[in-house]
Amino acid sequence: MIDRRGFLFHAGLTGVNLAMLPLVARAADKVVSKTPEEAAQDEDYWAAVRGAFRLDGRFADLQGHAVASAPSTTLDEMARTVDVVHSLPAYHLFRYGQTEKDRVRARLASVLGAEATEVALVRNTTEGISTLIRGLEVELGDEVVTTDQDYPPFIRAWQARGDREQFRVRVVSLPNEASDDQLVEQLANAVTDRTSVLMACHVLFRSGRVLPMKRICAMARERRVRTVIDGAHGFGHVPTDVSQIGCDYYANSLHKWALGPVGTGVLYIREELIAETPPLFMPWDESLGDNRIEKFEDPGTSLPAWPAVNASLDFLEAIGLPRKFARHAYLTRYWSEQLDGVQNVTVRGIQGPTHGGGFASLRITGVESRRLFRHLLDRHRILVGPGETDIKIASQVYTRPADLDALVAVIKRVARNGL
Ligand SMILES: Cc1ncc(COP(=O)(O)O)c(C=O)c1O
Repeated sequence: MIDRRGFLFHAGLTGVNLAMLPLVARAADKVVSKTPEEAAQDEDYWAAVRGAFRLDGRFADLQGHAVASAPSTTLDEMARTVDVVHSLPAYHLFRYGQTEKDRVRARLASVLGAEATEVALVRNTTEGISTLIRGLEVELGDEVVTTDQDYPPFIRAWQARGDREQFRVRVVSLPNEASDDQLVEQLANAVTDRTSVLMACHVLFRSGRVLPMKRICAMARERRVRTVIDGAHGFGHVPTDVSQIGCDYYANSLHKWALGPVGTGVLYIREELIAETPPLFMPWDESLGDNRIEKFEDPGTSLPAWPAVNASLDFLEAIGLPRKFARHAYLTRYWSEQLDGVQNVTVRGIQGPTHGGGFASLRITGVESRRLFRHLLDRHRILVGPGETDIKIASQVYTRPADLDALVAVIKRVARNGL
């Protein structure tokens, strides 16, 4: 009985993929001869992709940078795993759980440019980065360098630890208009012989700008500074290969740009650093050595989400990452160009090689961003990201140009007449 259940667990997961994925894969046949940039504008193809999601069609969801919808195949996998696991929990979690996680780990490692022994499965970027903020060795009188464009809770977490343990956190100001050379120089100037950690975002969360991470990490490594990269808007959104970037640590939330189920993320740790990096939770298994990546994972009760990550990776593969990146960039250009030159509207987010593609921020002079956010949501059912000074607009693979047209029409009206 037990073996049969175990068998069904695996066979069933594969069965769902085979039944559902061809929808998106077949649609890709239509764009296969097109460049990613041409395919990015093929609305028939993207309508088919959108059809693979179960969306709340009453809203235009332009907040997918925070949490994205996962495709139906992923949701089905997750529902099935919940059923199977709860039919015999301890057995499925503790016997099959590890095998399932190892399968996903190996796949994630290959798409991230890492070894499977370097990828921990965590709940999100917050868990990954918090593990490092709590655990990395920083000595009395040392310094941690980060930027004013980093995620505020992470800056505050470093500052709280710095206050307790008496080390300094240097927050470097990164101007939006700076060139890549200037950014690298600014960070290099902030690093001293007391700096032990440099934390920065792969893609800046306010503007979508991609930092020249390979150069930043090379500079830090030359000076023996460990690099902690907040990749919340990296993997799945822009090309990401951690071995090419050359960072020491990289954290990502799969439920953003990789279209994974809510509550899944990865923490990459360069092999040589695993042993010296302490975990957030003490592993249940005492025999798990210090140099095993699994020590960074919770004790195993989060299994239902992990087989579903495989379905999300299948989905990304069926679209093809270059096509996905091109679609993000196309949609951001689509709405931002319509607002070019509109009086009182400022778009923050540079198009071109230094821009992340899928999101940018905007503000209307004289209109408070929180009120604009509420107006869009309450009056027009358009969900955007609320920021301190700007609203953030993100496009995912299921975003329609019509959603963006609706946004542009409201923004133009408010820019002219106020709220
Ligand atoms: C730059 C950045 N880092 C970290 C996070 C936290 O992500 P999560 O809530 O998935 O951990 C966010 C959230 O949007 C973010 O924008």
